Amino acid sequence: MFKIVVLVSGNGSNLQALINNCIENHIAGNIVGVICNDPNAFAIKRAENHSIPCEIIDHKEFLSREEFDQRVLDSLIKMQPDLIVLAGFMRILTNIIIDRFENKIINIHPSLLPKYPGLDTHQKVIENNDKFHGVTIHFVNNELDAGKVIAQGKLKVEKSENIAKLIERIHKIEHDLLPYIVNKFATLEIEKQNEIRKNVQRISPLL
Ligand code: GRF
Repeated sequence: MFKIVVLVSGNGSNLQALINNCIENHIAGNIVGVICNDPNAFAIKRAENHSIPCEIIDHKEFLSREEFDQRVLDSLIKMQPDLIVLAGFMRILTNIIIDRFENKIINIHPSLLPKYPGLDTHQKVIENNDKFHGVTIHFVNNELDAGKVIAQGKLKVEKSENIAKLIERIHKIEHDLLPYIVNKFATLEIEKQNEIRKNVQRISPLL
């Protein structure tokens, strides 16, 4: 089984989209755990509603970023994820985690990266009268929203657009694109495993 762990900090609508897609078998995998750094996040309730183990690791209880990451790493190692999805996780990860899970951590960010890394992306799009806005799914490295791009979803900004409407439209794209990409990772991994099994079968008669 392809094991997914989701890291969250807030509302968790992307987590919900992933949960729903796993239940509906649109993702060939399961969410084996959720890690949340904010004890008040609604995302925790979403995990609980579906009996998904959720670890609350409050970053405010740690003296340094490294100590927090070490604690998160301990949990991740226990959960043994094939893929770690940052879905509204508002912390920059250090190499303590990134080196251990190279090419296995992805993030969803609400802008057409490299445009607008960081916060307030929707506001920036409106202030700058941008014609287009969108979302990016990318691999995570130790810089803010800077890893290799995996996929982007784009929309045309309407003349009369306000932030609430824009966020709603962006979320719609996110809830569609993120499960799609997570499933790509899952199916690629399954194909890889099948290929390995086939090779072993091919080799074993010779042994
Ligand atoms: C999303 O817009 C995501 O792109 C960004 O944070 C937001 C999280 O929303 N990284 P939610 O918590 O999934 O509703």
